[in-house]
Amino acid sequence: VAADGTRVFSLEARAGTTEFAPGVPSETWGFDGAHLGPTIIAERGERIRVDVANALDEPTTVHWHGMHLPAAMDGGPHQMVDPGETWSPEWEVDQEAATLWYHPHPHGETEQHVARGLAGMLLVRDDVEAALPLPREYGVDDLPVIVQDAAFTDDGRLESSARGFAGRMGDELVVNGARAPFTDVDDELVRLRLLNASTARTYAFGWEDGRTIDVIATDGGLLEASVALDRVVLSPGERAEVLVRMTPGEELRLHSVMTPEAAGLKPPIAAMNGATDAFDVLELRAAETLDPAPDLPERLRELPEVAEGDVATTRTFRLDGFEINGGTMRMDHVDETVTVDTTERWIVENAGEMPHSFHVHDVQFRIAAIDAAPPPAEFAGWKDTILARPGSRYELILRFEDHADPDTPYMYHCHLLQHEDQGMMGQFVVV
Ligand code: C2O
Ligand code: CU
Ligand code: CU
Repeated sequence: VAADGTRVFSLEARAGTTEFAPGVPSETWGFDGAHLGPTIIAERGERIRVDVANALDEPTTVHWHGMHLPAAMDGGPHQMVDPGETWSPEWEVDQEAATLWYHPHPHGETEQHVARGLAGMLLVRDDVEAALPLPREYGVDDLPVIVQDAAFTDDGRLESSARGFAGRMGDELVVNGARAPFTDVDDELVRLRLLNASTARTYAFGWEDGRTIDVIATDGGLLEASVALDRVVLSPGERAEVLVRMTPGEELRLHSVMTPEAAGLKPPIAAMNGATDAFDVLELRAAETLDPAPDLPERLRELPEVAEGDVATTRTFRLDGFEINGGTMRMDHVDETVTVDTTERWIVENAGEMPHSFHVHDVQFRIAAIDAAPPPAEFAGWKDTILARPGSRYELILRFEDHADPDTPYMYHCHLLQHEDQGMMGQFVVV
């Protein structure tokens, strides 16, 4: 804690080696360690600073995905950290309890930096969440699940995965940096914070024994009530918090069984986008006696109405090929200018053949409609990233508060990182 009460965290991006198979080192990058990064846990209302040091041989950045913060602290492609330098953004955490994450955002190099291992979780806690009887003991009954795909040689060395239209896709999963992970649990009620930190792959998570997967939170915070689904579909960048009630001694597997329907794809594009792939993700092994957990209240929280009536400006973002509105990213060009303290409607139309993952910096938005219909219950809460299926149209309602800065843009982009690197990104300023 600094003298003025600011809580200080530090992250150093560095190169190292990781043994994904015993005795077989792979070259990886990580924050503070050789692969991935520590989980940062912040409280709503506190001021935080992160000292980001770059011990790599090349420039990188660290972006706080899902955070509402000044553009100059956002860690996008305009906040490069050169080798040997330290960048120290600071801001007041002013948003609801949520599962956010951080990762590099250097223009044209993001896929490579994330695929090498630069990513971590950033959790926000608040009083509303703290007042609920939810599992919240980090690493015990409240577990991060960072899902990435990768490719390995036969002896277990990480290798560069194959590139398709969507980007790099590996044929194996690495979860929290480990292959074939399992975790022992001693609590009846377990909370998983699922993060799709893959560069290109979309997952459809579910329980192998067929029970429903109960979603309590999406990208930007808690839903009003838990939603029971067969599958929770997460495209790159998206998060979901799920709860599961274990029975003593059971072994329960989380898996992902993708289908062309879930991805919104038809063959042969479906096969190229991994939309027919299945993976084991994580095994939970329950102890013979479990700490009991109370029932959850039916209502977790109140969400404000989707404020369509307040919309001052409507913009359309047409995704086609690797372009947004017929263009690609220009570092020196501002595509959209937003007025601070106004509400906007952003219409995202996927006019192409490929799925994309549309992400907006700075704000959490609500979904007013998908293909002119009200969104399903799992899309009723705060989001910052959505899977945009080919042929579909998404109406987002966004409110831009605080942090006006005419000189520093925020990004919106496809979170399939190869697409982002190829320029499927635009810039907006809040003035
Ligand atoms: Cu997760 Cu602009 O990024
Ligand atoms: Cu982001
Ligand atoms: Cu894309």
